[in-house]
Amino acid sequence: MSLLIRNGTVVNADGEHRLDVLVEGETISRLEPIIDPSDLPADTEVIDATGKCVFPGFIDPHVHIHLPFMGTNAIDDHDSATRAALAGGTTTIIEMICPGPEEEPRDAFGTWKGLAEEGSHCDFSFHLSVVRFDELAEEQLRELVAAGEVASFKIFLAYKGALDIADENLFPLLELARELGVIVTAHCENAEAVDAMQARLIAEGKTGPEWHEPSRPRSVEATGVDHLCTFAGLTGAHVYIVHTSCGAALENAKEARAAGTQVWVESVAPHLVLDKSWAERPDFEGAKFVMSPPLRDAEEHDALWAGVADRSISTIGTDHAPFNFKGQKDMGLDAFTRIPNGIPSIQERVDLIHTHGVRTGRIDRPTFVDACSTQAARIFGMYPRKGVIAVGSDADIVVYDPDAKGTFRHADSLSRTDYCGFEGMERIGAVETVLRRGAVVVREGTVVEDPGPGAFISRAPTH
Ligand code: URP
Ligand code: ZN
Ligand code: ZN
Repeated sequence: MSLLIRNGTVVNADGEHRLDVLVEGETISRLEPIIDPSDLPADTEVIDATGKCVFPGFIDPHVHIHLPFMGTNAIDDHDSATRAALAGGTTTIIEMICPGPEEEPRDAFGTWKGLAEEGSHCDFSFHLSVVRFDELAEEQLRELVAAGEVASFKIFLAYKGALDIADENLFPLLELARELGVIVTAHCENAEAVDAMQARLIAEGKTGPEWHEPSRPRSVEATGVDHLCTFAGLTGAHVYIVHTSCGAALENAKEARAAGTQVWVESVAPHLVLDKSWAERPDFEGAKFVMSPPLRDAEEHDALWAGVADRSISTIGTDHAPFNFKGQKDMGLDAFTRIPNGIPSIQERVDLIHTHGVRTGRIDRPTFVDACSTQAARIFGMYPRKGVIAVGSDADIVVYDPDAKGTFRHADSLSRTDYCGFEGMERIGAVETVLRRGAVVVREGTVVEDPGPGAFISRAPTH
């Protein structure tokens, strides 16, 4: 079965052009100024994209779906989260595997992969968090990489006693990553400093969600970046800093990069669009906006958007970590330290970045594509299969109306969370049609009833 997308503007990371796109099976087979449908088989489906953008399927490099965390479990499953992702134009996700400190990496990988195989409608891959690092864990990490199951690790310099990695393990893990050619993604804060600050604030009776940000200020994130980059510089490991929230952290990463460290930077939609005043909302509503690193002062947006524009921030993900307000966030009514951290945005990311980045003139459309698709494919070893509209690439394609206007509403959300963090905010741009490896999974902005399964994307070490 073939499908022709006519008259659209194809936008890749290096520019945009008026091109027709022919899809045959799961692959893009032709890309030409004009492809005449009368030369194609009669059963070819034709989509008219006049006035529309034709983007490569968006890639979210930072997603939590199965997430046992802070005494509860994230509320989405793979079916709900990836329907939401498709509705928002995301065709490939990289999910964080977050095992407990006792769990064996091989078992954790099996659990997460099994759940995704059962329920994911997006293509999927994983970053494997290294929470346990001993002889057995090292052996299993080696096996998983050799088998093509894992090509990126995740570490946490945060969440003391739960997910954090000690310095005595950080150094040998980065050495292992370097030997295997595996990039290490990292949550950069300082677990000890956060722990001490939380204890101090709670002892002072400062228990509401508005104290979450002061408990982990920008300096703590910036020092975490510096710490990671120092270890990366010493070991030669390639590292990727997730959910960068402020200029100080970005500056430390840029400095390390200028000194020769192989470091890439991610930011996420909530940090680019929301600010800490949302977490200061009365009647505990601020809990909806508690994530780590925290939402910052609105002034930080300029530094982050400048980083996206000059491409020192390579990627924009979501850090989708969905917890209900009622029954989950409210576990922290008496102490902000018990509010499950996370803001869902897997469905809203592309429209948010289009609205607040492209339509405000902060970034152009190729940069938008680079940050929301191409760089994730390049950094994590999926390019040019993913992240580009090119002959031979997977036919992951989003037909997008750049002028459609609306608002973000929980009523439209396919995630299971009982709130939308962007409720009532203006949206400019809308997903019309989405193809995942040639299959139409979104039509006229609605996910089809049976979008079918996503595929596991095996990745090889990148360096
Ligand atoms: O607040 C967040 N970010 N929740 C998910 C876990 C993590 O740190 O990525
Ligand atoms: Zn994190
Ligand atoms: Zn995360």
